[in-house]
Amino acid sequence: MRGWRGSIVRSTIPFTTSPRNNGALKRAFTAGISTSTRPDPFILLADHLAQVRGALFDLLGSSSPTLDEIAKYYFLQPSKQLRPLIILLLAQATNGLGKNWEKRRLEGVQDLDLPLSRADVLNDFNPSIPTKTASFSEKWDIHSTTAANPTSQKEWNGILPTQTRLAQIVEMIHAASLLHDDVIDESPLRRGAVSAPQAYGSKLAVLGGNFILGRASAALARLGDPEVVELIASIISNLVEGEILQMKEAPAPANAWRVYLQKTYMKTASLMAKGARGAVVLGGCTEGEIYREVAYAYGRNLGIAFQLVDDILDYEAGEATLGKPGGADLQLGLATGPALFAWEEHPEIGPLIERKFNQPGDVELARDYVRKSSGVERTRDLALAYAEQARDVLVPLPDSDAKGALEALTGRVVKRKS
Ligand code: FPP
Ligand code: MG
Repeated sequence: MRGWRGSIVRSTIPFTTSPRNNGALKRAFTAGISTSTRPDPFILLADHLAQVRGALFDLLGSSSPTLDEIAKYYFLQPSKQLRPLIILLLAQATNGLGKNWEKRRLEGVQDLDLPLSRADVLNDFNPSIPTKTASFSEKWDIHSTTAANPTSQKEWNGILPTQTRLAQIVEMIHAASLLHDDVIDESPLRRGAVSAPQAYGSKLAVLGGNFILGRASAALARLGDPEVVELIASIISNLVEGEILQMKEAPAPANAWRVYLQKTYMKTASLMAKGARGAVVLGGCTEGEIYREVAYAYGRNLGIAFQLVDDILDYEAGEATLGKPGGADLQLGLATGPALFAWEEHPEIGPLIERKFNQPGDVELARDYVRKSSGVERTRDLALAYAEQARDVLVPLPDSDAKGALEALTGRVVKRKS
């Protein structure tokens, strides 16, 4: 498939189709996933994911014990590591295909912990990397400028060190956004434990998030690719814009779906789409090569499917399975997929959505309307349609275990229960 010259067309996902219309689609998609012998994505890269997580702690060391603790807090509880997984699998599935692969492979043999600025000028002491960072000293003299000797880092599982580091960076940005999100949502729980704002207070949770972003930005610069810096930086802007969009007044009925899907892209899918594209760029695929588009389209569709399922689970699952409070969206005034579909069947829910469920009894009433409607089922069908689209855009990739695992992941995302 190396010479594939197709193009990824815009999705035509029908988000108002009825469950009846989607029955055949659902059956075909689930059958396509289950009849295969595709590798389990989490098992295929289990050792790599463990390494990504373990080595991440070293990036977050601080000489302030409090900051050190908060920055690492959300990495201590088990997480799905879906974002790093997408990045690593797309790296594996596309490495060797791009025009600049050999060049990137050679560039990949560099020390990614080594500061670009001299360590004593950077003054960002990290006790976990003491030989490569320096702390602030008050009296300052002219220092010599001998270049440090880079230690080599090697390819592993066919994945470049830069791509593994990108997986860590993306997970760091995700964790930073969760620290801020739990302040905004006043959430008591995250990943089955007391949330960071509950444990340390809002101020420290916000500062911890900012510290993680600082370290992620430095690590990003050390990847040496301005295009990847641009892509990943824009994820942070998207996350903030998505959060602001969610805070605004409820949109007019005609705009409700567009705004919801836009918010879903910004808060969830952008990180997966741009992280995946970044991995392929680091693997030497140049502008115009289809693999970049495959990665972006896969991450975007999978991300939207993932969030739609998340929005269903908020109605269906409780604290024990989610590791965070269920039913939070209505409490926060948010009308997600199930409520928007319910609105089509029960117009009475409209005024509740418009006032963001802020009157006593609104939340319970809205939940009843959603239960009486086929909102949850139709949201699941929509998630299936996005997941199927994610699987379909993989066609240009040559067959490999990584491609099979990416396909399997589309099924896992829609079937998940937590
Ligand atoms: C979870 O949303 C939160 C996000 C996906 C992103 C939140 C983004 C910000 C707070 C903007 C700041 C960003 C950075 C990078 C500092 P949720 O509340 O819908 O899900 P939950 O149930 O997991 O809390
Ligand atoms: Mg939240």
